[in-house]
Amino acid sequence: MNQPSPKATSRQWRGVIREYADRLDVTDATPVVTLGEGGTPLLPAPALSRRTGADVWVKYEGMNPTGSFKDRGMTMAVTKAVERGAKVVICASTGNTSASAAAYAAHAGIKAAVLVPEGKIAMGKLSQAIAHNGELLQVQGNFDDCLDIARDLAANYPVHLVNSVNNDRIEGQKTAAFEIVEAHGDAPDFHFIPVGNAGNYTAYTRGYREDIAAGNATRMPRMFGFQASGSAPIVRGEPVKHPETIASAIRIGNPASWELALSARDETDGYFGAIDDDKILEAQRILSAEVGIFVEPASAISVAGLLERSAAGVIPAGARVVLTVTGHGLKDPQWALRTADGSDVQPTIVPVDTAQIAAVLGLAS
Ligand code: F0G
Repeated sequence: MNQPSPKATSRQWRGVIREYADRLDVTDATPVVTLGEGGTPLLPAPALSRRTGADVWVKYEGMNPTGSFKDRGMTMAVTKAVERGAKVVICASTGNTSASAAAYAAHAGIKAAVLVPEGKIAMGKLSQAIAHNGELLQVQGNFDDCLDIARDLAANYPVHLVNSVNNDRIEGQKTAAFEIVEAHGDAPDFHFIPVGNAGNYTAYTRGYREDIAAGNATRMPRMFGFQASGSAPIVRGEPVKHPETIASAIRIGNPASWELALSARDETDGYFGAIDDDKILEAQRILSAEVGIFVEPASAISVAGLLERSAAGVIPAGARVVLTVTGHGLKDPQWALRTADGSDVQPTIVPVDTAQIAAVLGLAS
């Protein structure tokens, strides 16, 4: 915290607070807590453009310091918490928020307490929270129960809530929209994004709205958000008591930003859709095998959503489409090994023998 800002001659990205200081609620006295988040790649996805006829780009948020988009919001949330004198931050999480909160709290020298649903978060995320010295409690309930308790604790005890119901999180996350507009010179026609609590959907809409007001963008993208079919309260129009999906990051039955998301959808002529788990895994594979970008299942729902909406005839040829892929595939790698029949891929075993390996590789004449 309070590190000197790199010199003006440095080409190193300075994290979203310093890069966008004029567009966030910070001053020169703000004790910036950053791990260098943001500035993530916006990559063309020719394999997806070919499949859809659209001009498809991927915003690769797995390239953030803890491997997910949460870092953009967490730099702001922990910075503002420290500015207000907090010694302990708390969050409920399906995994990524806990990893991020623990890392930023560690960097700031404060404590992070994290509540996660027992047995329902990916191993990579669990190990991150532990590695960063988070006080991790597995609650015998689902994410929605964890969030209720985190809110209760923050209301009644000296702990500072860093879930996306905290506006500082949304403020930090809106910077991803700024980066897209900067890279392309305008907003896309369509933006596809996974939806759990709908905080990120809300944050991008805010970012684009502010860019239009600032004269940086001329249009609002149609915001298309996707939930897993077994965990799709916004699509169904009612909370889901027992949400189920392999996309554990978005296994949420009662989204915290539900109302904000509905108004963002109406403002942007947007859409919410539901995707089956098998389609999520298919899309994850297309993105990793044909584009070279490995994401966790929840993130692949952006790709699955695009393929579904394209097949439905909703995406015009040549439309500029940006997909946010929210978390790195290494956080939850088990799904990449799973074959269609439910068994795991077994890599071929070979002897220490060049000729035999050449034969197995099909190189022998
Ligand atoms: N993608 C990933 C990888 C996530 O971890 C999350 C949310 C989302 C998408 C959905 O974002 O909630 O803003 O709509 N993860 C939270 C967590 C709930 O605790 O890590 P959202």
